[in-house]
Amino acid sequence: MSRIAYVNGRYLPLRQATVHIEDRGYQFSDGVYEVCEVRDGYVIDQRRHLARLQRSLDELGIAMPMSETALAIIMRECMRRNRLHDGIIYLQITRGVARRDHGFPPPGTHPSVVVTARSIDFAGNERTAAEGLAIITVPDNRWQRVDIKSISLLPNVLAKQAARERGAKEAWFVDQDGHVTEGSSSNAWIVTKGGKVVTRPADNAMLRGITRTVLIEVIEAHGLQFEERPFTVEEAQGAREAFLTSATFTAIALVLAVTALGPVRRPLTAPEPVEVEALAAEAA
Ligand SMILES: Cc1ncc(COP(=O)(O)O)c(C=O)c1O
Repeated sequence: MSRIAYVNGRYLPLRQATVHIEDRGYQFSDGVYEVCEVRDGYVIDQRRHLARLQRSLDELGIAMPMSETALAIIMRECMRRNRLHDGIIYLQITRGVARRDHGFPPPGTHPSVVVTARSIDFAGNERTAAEGLAIITVPDNRWQRVDIKSISLLPNVLAKQAARERGAKEAWFVDQDGHVTEGSSSNAWIVTKGGKVVTRPADNAMLRGITRTVLIEVIEAHGLQFEERPFTVEEAQGAREAFLTSATFTAIALVLAVTALGPVRRPLTAPEPVEVEALAAEAA
């Protein structure tokens, strides 16, 4: 079955789903995106993803081109047309099409909207979560507003590629103070020897992951020890466990870091899927 994408008001086979070459997303990375997990036909944490999308648009001064309800209908229609049961939905909104000029386009320029859907082998992800994965560390050379989920992802692309070339699956960005900010497409966590779960506070130097927020709620609901503070690579090396979170990997252990972490870390038990889904169903 050929995949169907939504592009600016039309549902089209992926091959015909194109944007204008003067789209500001193509020319300047002038846009934002969201990736939502779909499980059992539910969009997980849809309300939070759409709220973060709105925030990213506001931070860049791009108008939300339609109501949240209309966007939710498009997401569901994309799921239906792609017969998506388990996978991801990708949403992208750019500042629209205009003659190439760095400054904002004239008022009235319509933002461009693209929505795609694809299935994911979550069973494979769960196997990886049980086995753990390798990471590398790279200097964080990104701009100072990575809290905005912008489509400008070149440092993340290069970091992920560097990880792959070294046989790892993820790269952790490390700031000038030696603190881990986040992964190239995930948030970073450790569990200290004393059993405290630690993750960096959501400042402008990292993306406030939706999975991170949900996991903090689950940790607090279970009364686990938790602290939001920066941690260093050295601390991660000495930690009992280290793991990462993202919408595509709910929680995944790290067993080995090519540059840093020693081998064999016992994977953290992932949060009960049921609880995450319960939150999602409530949000839907
Ligand atoms: C840089 C970065 N940090 C963190 C995350 C995790 O965010 P979420 O849990 O909302 O998927 C992502 C996800 O794509 C990301 O790209």
